[in-house]
Amino acid sequence: MAKQLNLGIIGFGFMGQTHAETIKGLDYANLKAVCDTNEAQFVYAPDGVATYVSADELLADETIDTVIIAVPNLLHLKMVVKSAKAHKDIICEKPLAMNSEEVKEMMAVTKEENVRFTIHHQRRWDHDYRVAKEVYDQKLVGDIYTIKSSLYGFNGNMHDWHIYPELGGGMLYDWGVHLIDQILWMIPTKLQTVYADVRNVINEKVDDYFNIQLYFENGINAQIELGTYFLNSSENWFERHWFIGGNEGSAKIDGFNPKGEITRTSELLGNVPGQITMTHAGPTRSFGPAPEGRILTEALPEVDVSHRMFFDNYYAAVSGKEELTIQPEEILRLMQVVEAIRTSAKYHQSIHFE
Ligand SMILES: NC(=O)c1ccc[n+]([C@@H]2O[C@H](COP(=O)([O-])OP(=O)(O)OC[C@H]3O[C@@H](n4cnc5c(N)ncnc54)[C@H](O)[C@@H]3O)[C@@H](O)[C@H]2O)c1
Repeated sequence: MAKQLNLGIIGFGFMGQTHAETIKGLDYANLKAVCDTNEAQFVYAPDGVATYVSADELLADETIDTVIIAVPNLLHLKMVVKSAKAHKDIICEKPLAMNSEEVKEMMAVTKEENVRFTIHHQRRWDHDYRVAKEVYDQKLVGDIYTIKSSLYGFNGNMHDWHIYPELGGGMLYDWGVHLIDQILWMIPTKLQTVYADVRNVINEKVDDYFNIQLYFENGINAQIELGTYFLNSSENWFERHWFIGGNEGSAKIDGFNPKGEITRTSELLGNVPGQITMTHAGPTRSFGPAPEGRILTEALPEVDVSHRMFFDNYYAAVSGKEELTIQPEEILRLMQVVEAIRTSAKYHQSIHFE
């Protein structure tokens, strides 16, 4: 098949190099050039790929149609504006910008210059997330009332520019935007209120813990919790969990390569009249054990998914076969949710959103 995507990467650090690795596996894409102000990064550039020390040089390279922007967050706006003016299509890393005003600026310039513009929220193609989304879409636990998405780990470590707020550091911008985007894409209704606790547990300047509650118009309460300082003695400890509660069952999904099950009862539980169980504290019925045989388990749904599907969708969009899965308007809303989260945490108040 003829190569049809000609890509250049601006910012060749951790994520830029991850993109280069992914592109190697795509039979419809060519990596033409990479750019980094730190020439030491070029030892990781694949053979035959041009290297530039400035974005302007890369943008002047006429063999490139699409740029991937993977510089620190503070620089995204500047790079998006430059790239649009150089008439390159753009894939920008998350978080797209430092705030929603910057996103609006990006949307205006990309529209004006008529360039394609999307954001690398590849965690919409995470395996655990797609299993959870399947449970949601197929109503596998009935009418859902609660969803909990949590991520813990790495013993408090934050590094490099991630520890400076002025460069776009902190966990809300790092993992937060992924976890929030997943929930917003899963639950396509109005988001009514936002309540959040955001903390600096061991990092003085940037957030390293958050607990966010999103209440949606369809009655679902989604909770997102992230902690970088949930200590554990195992090496490389990183925990990912989902819990989804519905009126016909519960789904438990653990790990990025998920294990878990759907649990339901053999008949819908209702209020049972009659017999009252006495405890030393008086009569009780709450949290009683289910009668034998009442609890049934089922396997989680199977999904076939991988991060390269972000690029498959991009290529399909370039070829006119699909819409881009990730639209700037959605990411503007995401950024506005992040702002509501910060306001809620600052004043310890619930924020009316939509
Ligand atoms: N989608 C994801 O899962 C994911 C994962 C990690 C990082 N990211 C995002 O990718 C971006 C980069 O993060 P990272 O972890 O790779 O950081 P990094 O520090 O490893 O890499 C950034 C690179 O940009 C270079 N750079 C800085 N200023 C530059 C400039 N003016 N011109 C050209 N190059 C410049 C630096 O020298 C560095 O090599 C961030 O926006 C981050 O949020 C996304």
